[in-house]
Amino acid sequence: MASTVQIIPATLDDLPDLVRLEEACFSAPWTRKMLTAELTGNQFAHFLVARDAGGIIGYLCYWIVFEEVRLMNLAVVDSMRRRGIAAGLVDEALRTGLAHAATRALLEVRASNQAALALYRRFGFVEVSTRRQYYANPIEDAVLMELEPIVARSGAGHDRGATIEGGSISAH
Ligand SMILES: CC(C)(COP(=O)(O)OP(=O)(O)OC[C@H]1O[C@@H](n2cnc3c(N)ncnc32)[C@H](O)[C@@H]1OP(=O)(O)O)[C@@H](O)C(=O)NCCC(=O)NCCS
Repeated sequence: MASTVQIIPATLDDLPDLVRLEEACFSAPWTRKMLTAELTGNQFAHFLVARDAGGIIGYLCYWIVFEEVRLMNLAVVDSMRRRGIAAGLVDEALRTGLAHAATRALLEVRASNQAALALYRRFGFVEVSTRRQYYANPIEDAVLMELEPIVARSGAGHDRGATIEGGSISAH
């Protein structure tokens, strides 16, 4: 049965869930302090969470810096992947960027992260360069990806009949 997933701005109350999600999804997770700094101390930062009836199932932190949208960190709970949730979060960020007159979007991703590379390619991001040994734990190259001009569209979901309307996804 389909369940509704809401995409809404994060608050400080979400910190415990965000820390858990980071630790579950990344080998070098953002700490509570880093997440707090993004939520409260960074004028460029935007923070979205995806929630279902059980709580937070995904999040995206991105910056809008003048004409650029920079996707900083994205994660979806393992058990809820391949349902269009990351695509819904990215789509919302790109739409917000467009509303702020941003013209291009950028991100870095681990070279081995096939899931994320495929997701971003679905949105039209292209690989523009490699940053050697950019990541620690484990040491790995970063692929720099760019989308210019920004086109907001869902990278997933529609093909499977899911809908993204006004920040809500119907996830199956
Ligand atoms: C990468 C990640 C965020 C994707 O989240 P998700 O909610 O499963 O992604 P979506 O369901 O929105 O996927 C959209 C499209 O991206 C591509 N994609 C996503 N995961 C994929 C995978 N494991 N393999 C191949 N393609 C994949 C597909 O084209 C997919 O569309 P489809 O399911 O119709 O084929 C998730 O796997 C994750 O949290 N990984 C760990 C953290 C991480 O790597 N974050 C990214 C840092 S840059």
